[in-house]
Amino acid sequence: MTEIIKADAERDAPCAGLRIGDAAPDFSARSTTGNVCLSDYRGRWLILFSHPADFTPVCTTEFVALARSADKFEKRDCALMALSIDSLFSHFAWLRMIRDRYDIEVRFPIVEDPTLVIGRAYGMVAPHDNDSATVRTTFFIDPQGVVRAMTCYPASVGRSTPEMLRTLDALQAVDDGPVLAPANWTPGEAMLAQPDASLDTVFAAKEPTDWFMKETKRGSRR
Ligand code: BEZ
Repeated sequence: MTEIIKADAERDAPCAGLRIGDAAPDFSARSTTGNVCLSDYRGRWLILFSHPADFTPVCTTEFVALARSADKFEKRDCALMALSIDSLFSHFAWLRMIRDRYDIEVRFPIVEDPTLVIGRAYGMVAPHDNDSATVRTTFFIDPQGVVRAMTCYPASVGRSTPEMLRTLDALQAVDDGPVLAPANWTPGEAMLAQPDASLDTVFAAKEPTDWFMKETKRGSRR
């Protein structure tokens, strides 16, 4: 999609099936930190995530957890941006309540998407659901504006901030060299080398797994 989406556009955008490797659709919208434009984030990582509704229990725990980890995302040069169908004034009131009750200020932007035009372009709305609330989608967008990973959780299950940071670390580490992140990898642990793709290597390998399973020291960026 090359056209920029406006959050107050008509409610007729198709439900997109965004995939890893797709360009993140650009949009401009009102947010709790002023007008935001997705393309202004080029040059740094961005985690764009939707939540079903303000003033709900699971969402509140997610925002408290993310705000408390804001410095960890900053250290990784990654901005955070949230989005829901709720109005800007609902977002403001919710953030005020969070500050007063949990003693933490949410300073990353929360976009209002009243017509769900952005939510639909990103596939944040369950297409067969009568409820217009967005589900808990998370898009990891790289400095070139490309979707590199995404997750989708139901309203009933909150996301893990450590796993969001770990995914970001792994994406940044694999970009640093031809390496792969194994299961449960965390920074400082060995990564895996890209496997060779030649039959001679397969037959010459001493052990049956040697040709495709090789650890490498790379990946201690943090
Ligand atoms: C919650 O965040 O707790 C929530 C949001 C929407 C539906 C159900 C729960």
